[in-house]
Amino acid sequence: MYAISLGDDGAELRPLEPWHAEEFLAHLDRGRAFITRYIPFGSQVTDLDTARETLRRYAGMRAADTAHHHGIWQDGKLVGGVLALEFDAAAGTCEVGCWLEPAATGRGLVTRAMRHLVDWAVDERGIHRVEWVAASGNEASIAVARRLGMHRDGVRREAHLHQGVRHDLEVWSLLAPEWRAARARTAHHDH
Ligand SMILES: CC(C)(COP(=O)(O)OP(=O)(O)OC[C@H]1O[C@@H](n2cnc3c(N)ncnc32)[C@H](O)[C@@H]1OP(=O)(O)O)[C@@H](O)C(=O)NCCC(=O)NCCS
Repeated sequence: MYAISLGDDGAELRPLEPWHAEEFLAHLDRGRAFITRYIPFGSQVTDLDTARETLRRYAGMRAADTAHHHGIWQDGKLVGGVLALEFDAAAGTCEVGCWLEPAATGRGLVTRAMRHLVDWAVDERGIHRVEWVAASGNEASIAVARRLGMHRDGVRREAHLHQGVRHDLEVWSLLAPEWRAARARTAHHDH
């Protein structure tokens, strides 16, 4: 019903709601193996009921103001999303995360979508610190954090047990004044 254009290539950021369950399941069927290499996101979504339940859970977190998720559509097809989680407006902190199905990678969709999400968190919600947490081996994810101008805070050694393997977690962050300063410097930013 409403969407934010991410550029002139048919990519859009839209609300991802429980009624998208069928589309969400089809998207995860195309991307589950790729998406779950380092994170559990989507691994529990295996049929229409679990797809609907997951989207309802996210809708509940949005209502509680503890997480805010959005889907990315490319030419009318759901291909991924971005989300703010551990969202704490009073403390001024949140984490952000993202996922794409493999065919949608390499086009800057997540970087472009994330700029809107961080703008919203910083400008409209008064978030001061935005955190990015990624397994050390997840180079594509870490590249997004770098592309967004984040600072590498450090490593939480072997903090993430995933599919039987203990991964180091890199923690990256950006602070609201840094984001505003970078945005002011970046002529191509569309805000
Ligand atoms: C993390 C993930 C979303 C990154 O996907 P991605 O496509 O590499 O990231 P972006 O959408 O920002 O695209 C960046 C790529 O598009 C290119 N690109 C093209 N146009 C661009 C634009 N306008 N802006 C930025 N990058 C652009 C970049 O050069 C880069 O390509 P490269 O990897 O060849 O250098 C993806 O790997 C994924 O879904 N992984 C599985 C889930 C996951 O691990 N999520 C993160 C958990 S911490």
